[in-house]
Amino acid sequence: MEILKCINSRRSVRNFSKKDVSETDMDDILMAAVRAPNAGNIQEWRFIVVRKRETMEMLAEASFQQKVIASAAVVIISCADMDEIGKAYSSRGKDVYSLQDAAVTCQNLMLAVWDKGIGSCWVGSFDEKKVQNILVLPKNVRPLAIIPLGYPQGHREKQPRKSLEEVVHHEFY
Ligand SMILES: Cc1cc2nc3c(=O)[nH]c(=O)nc-3n(C[C@H](O)[C@H](O)[C@H](O)COP(=O)(O)O)c2cc1C
Repeated sequence: MEILKCINSRRSVRNFSKKDVSETDMDDILMAAVRAPNAGNIQEWRFIVVRKRETMEMLAEASFQQKVIASAAVVIISCADMDEIGKAYSSRGKDVYSLQDAAVTCQNLMLAVWDKGIGSCWVGSFDEKKVQNILVLPKNVRPLAIIPLGYPQGHREKQPRKSLEEVVHHEFY
């Protein structure tokens, strides 16, 4: 799929069929994720891949009962090693770059998912402490986004966007 077509047609998918996502597809998806630009090429991003139903249900509970997580074929948790980025860039690294790096990698990942006819949804609303405990993450590894994915079931309209006039401001001469 051409990149603009992929970007323009992508939408969040919250209903999945029972079809599994292959390991080969997962490798492509994760490779696309780590091709993202990132601050100083430090690559403090870490990914946890969950396929166990029980863990997915615990993650759904930690995300205020968002069923989309429990019904996915696979769940990826995007994390950042805060020590690694902190060592390289101090507070700017921890407060800004860790979030930006995770965001850009998640976008790469979600586009690769869509390119393969698979769907995903970014879940940002969750209890970080609970997710950290469920996944037994070290203290320095911060979970930043949960991305459930699977083959879409049913159709969902594209969500509208504000017009460019509303959000783009050109430099004034
Ligand atoms: C930072 C962030 C947090 C989000 N958190 C959630 C969430 O907790 N639950 C959810 O269902 N969708 C969540 N979303 C998905 C948005 O609701 C969705 O991207 C937005 O409504 C636009 O729809 P679209 O992705 O179909 O274009 C989140 C997206 C982002 C980028």
